[in-house]
Amino acid sequence: MRILIIGGSGFIGRYVSRRLVASGHTVVSTYNSRPPADDGATWPQVEITDPAALDALFALARPDVVVHLAAMADVGTAERNPERATAVNVTATEAIARLSERHSSRLLFVSTEYVFDGRNGPYTEDVAPAPTTQYGRTKFEAERAVAALVSNWSILRTSIVYGWPAPGRRNFVPMLVDRLRNGEPYHGPTNVHRSPVYVEHLVDGIERLVETESTGVHHVAGSDWVTMYDFAVAVSEGFGLDTSLVVPGTDPMDDRLGLDSQRSIVVLGLQHPGLDAGLATLRASASAE
Ligand SMILES: NC(=O)c1ccc[n+]([C@@H]2O[C@H](COP(=O)([O-])OP(=O)(O)OC[C@H]3O[C@@H](n4cnc5c(N)ncnc54)[C@H](OP(=O)(O)O)[C@@H]3O)[C@@H](O)[C@H]2O)c1
Repeated sequence: MRILIIGGSGFIGRYVSRRLVASGHTVVSTYNSRPPADDGATWPQVEITDPAALDALFALARPDVVVHLAAMADVGTAERNPERATAVNVTATEAIARLSERHSSRLLFVSTEYVFDGRNGPYTEDVAPAPTTQYGRTKFEAERAVAALVSNWSILRTSIVYGWPAPGRRNFVPMLVDRLRNGEPYHGPTNVHRSPVYVEHLVDGIERLVETESTGVHHVAGSDWVTMYDFAVAVSEGFGLDTSLVVPGTDPMDDRLGLDSQRSIVVLGLQHPGLDAGLATLRASASAE
């Protein structure tokens, strides 16, 4: 298949691009500010808020499937830059949705647990979103545009994703491992809940949604619903570090986010690994990154 990955240079996008190339697809993968990985994809530089650039991108890629990952994906950055967050996350996604329809492409949009209000997680696919952050609002607006403007669409929501990031970038697990190795304590919030997912397990779901025609909203996150304190303890144990350095704390976010993925896991025929399996695979892959 011809696949266009928008946001291929991001944390998740690098893994998606590498996997889809390895599976034999013809991949065009975009970057904006970060130089591309040499993984066998074609790598145009694209600014997604530029409509002419998007037109040219679709003309180049002529995609059967579009995987749209590009976003202002940091909650705090979106809160501080609400207009830019709307331009990148909503307006550009509307343009991508229209182009997907015009080119008869299937559009897979990657979204977030932040579309929910965080009072009553973990959330199933049929709970009505009620975002409380600018990031969550823009991603939910983008979801609605995708569903309204494209005939063959799918939305994949996920929770906190962990894995080895590109050099110079941060991810929670490697950051915590470094911290604990340096003997520094970590205050893990006991009042913030997530369903952490190892990036390659998420990519299993993305690949399945690329290769099948399952439409609608899907939740693909890890099988364990934990507090960030529990997550940090699991990381410490999984990497054989000093768990006494992980101490209970509280966070002003005080939320119960996280996703219940059971229905989508069955629909998509996926495995549903938990934290221990994800962290073991991550640790084993450390030398390969
Ligand atoms: N990571 C998570 O835990 C998580 C959880 C739930 C949902 N998600 C969703 O998953 C998707 C990918 O997240 P991620 O963690 O991989 O994010 P990321 O590392 O910040 O990557 C974002 C990607 O979007 C591109 N991009 C950003 N602004 C752009 C613009 N104006 N024009 C063109 N490209 C632009 C970036 O390009 P450059 O880097 O080259 O500038 C990069 O390829 C996002 O849609 C996010 O909402 C992520």
